[in-house]
Amino acid sequence: MCGIVGITANESVSSNIISALKKLEYRGYDSAGIAINTESQIHQKKVKGKLDNLILSLQKDGFDGKVGIGHTRWATHGEPSERNAHPHSSRKVSLVHNGIIENASELKSRIELKNYNFESDTDSEVITALITHYLNEGHDHMESVKQTISLLEGSYALAIIFSDLKDKIIGARNGSPLVAGTDGNSNSLGSDSIALSAIANKVCYLEDGDIVVLSRENVEIYNSSGDKANREFVDIGIMDTEVSKGSYNHFMEKEIHEHPKAVGETFRQFIDHDQGIISVDDIGLNFNDISKVHLIACGTAYYSCLVAKYYFEQYARLPVECDMASEFRYRDPVLDNKALYIFVSQSGETADTKAALDFCKDAKVRTLSIVNVMNSSIARESDYCLYTKAGAEIGVASTKAFTAQLSVLLSMALHCGTKNNNVTIEQNRQICKEIMQAPQILEKTIKRSYELKETAKAIIDSKGVMYLGRGTAFPLALEGALKFKEISYIHAEGYPAGEMKHGPLALIEKDLPVVCIVPPGPLFPKTVSNIQEVIARGGRILMITDDDSLKSSSENIWKIFRLPKTPKSIEAIVYSVPIHMLAYYTAVQLGNDVDQPRNLAKSVTVE
Ligand code: F6R
Repeated sequence: MCGIVGITANESVSSNIISALKKLEYRGYDSAGIAINTESQIHQKKVKGKLDNLILSLQKDGFDGKVGIGHTRWATHGEPSERNAHPHSSRKVSLVHNGIIENASELKSRIELKNYNFESDTDSEVITALITHYLNEGHDHMESVKQTISLLEGSYALAIIFSDLKDKIIGARNGSPLVAGTDGNSNSLGSDSIALSAIANKVCYLEDGDIVVLSRENVEIYNSSGDKANREFVDIGIMDTEVSKGSYNHFMEKEIHEHPKAVGETFRQFIDHDQGIISVDDIGLNFNDISKVHLIACGTAYYSCLVAKYYFEQYARLPVECDMASEFRYRDPVLDNKALYIFVSQSGETADTKAALDFCKDAKVRTLSIVNVMNSSIARESDYCLYTKAGAEIGVASTKAFTAQLSVLLSMALHCGTKNNNVTIEQNRQICKEIMQAPQILEKTIKRSYELKETAKAIIDSKGVMYLGRGTAFPLALEGALKFKEISYIHAEGYPAGEMKHGPLALIEKDLPVVCIVPPGPLFPKTVSNIQEVIARGGRILMITDDDSLKSSSENIWKIFRLPKTPKSIEAIVYSVPIHMLAYYTAVQLGNDVDQPRNLAKSVTVE
């Protein structure tokens, strides 16, 4: 993961490097560092912990200059510490790295590095060592970088400065994202365009194999064959600049409140107002020609795929397979030319999802991505792309991107069903009306969710929480448990309610909180029976439902969180709100760092 930045300008750059790192902190926050090429030499500062520690340290003992690089780290090789923080520097060169060098130990033991004094446990420092070696041998800067990266196995985005180059940065990318930016006064590099929004008005998304040379006046890009590449610079998107918490305490709180907008904007792309139906027509894909859907993603995005399995089966009557990207890519899966391979990712940069996409591209099967970040690698590399319109999601725990993903997947399933005659125009029209109510129902649900503050207070001392559901409520149970554990640090497990008696019922003991997601419908009485089995063993039930037939007292239910009446078609979207809110309130009660939970980072660009 890690965030990297580099700026060369006609003015001092350190405060802009820090501002850019602030926007990249979601990618990692266990240590941070900066290196500036002053007139005489490269000065650097590295600290353990969050960026604020670096800012404090620079206030005491700062330096500045017109070219520099910065880094915010998520540890892969080597514990989070000052020693392992980037930049990694020698007397001649200093660099920041995002990615993993898989052959680092082999490279470190090469004969030419036998006298190099390694100061960290990182894989990244070997890059500094190799570049220094080639410079010492008399190669020029570009050639030293080229020779070095030809030896690297793994992934990297690099920003490199040299003590004897007063205005230049060399960058390189392979498998990890890197964006070049410009605004006429400065040129810059960053892990994403959000980082560059204050210092660039145009950005260029670099491709794997690219090497870029930035000076104050120019940005020169070379492709993997060493030829000058004419890559397009595009205007920086509005989404890239909207990264403030506003009046909310946390980004996650703000982002939960943005569920209605994210869902409304996402569906809006697919509403055909003339016919009053949902339609995904204009991406050039022949939806009639799809015999199977294969959904691939990681984490929360994977849970959106599990919900979508129900959508595609119900509306389009298509067979569906779902895979976690990290498993799919190593399984030697049997691919099908008639299938559509769908990759779902908020960031569009998740390494496992991207590698699974590359695997499918190599096999020449049809690929479509559902992505939130415009122009991200997965968006650019898939054959077709549909965007979620969730806006920038900064909290590490994904919330509004999830409901936006469900909105695209539901629209696609309905569209496929309409094309293959499993859904009539009339049915599509009816569901479209229900979909148009979604933002309003979500707003009402958010207003009611404040009740969950009290519930959260009552469960903070629990040693674990279970989440149960059937149908689409089962993947929601998985999503609820994931969100809960990642920010509360309390163990949580999601399970299909009907499977409890095959093992997990053994976990139920007095007062264990069990969150049951129970929308009305044919599965309702079945889940209520499973709930009684839990109550009989002492479990405390929090029931989430929009059914109004049940009274908690008569059923011995601890608490009921009642949602506004919700149409079946948008149930999974609306029920996401209380499960996200419960996790949020619990983490707040516990005093945890909600937006930057321990050990995690957003945009997982390493395997
Ligand atoms: C959980 C969470 C992660 C991400 C996962 C995939 O709250 O945010 O599980 O969903 O890392 O990330 P993207 O969607 O960027 O591919």
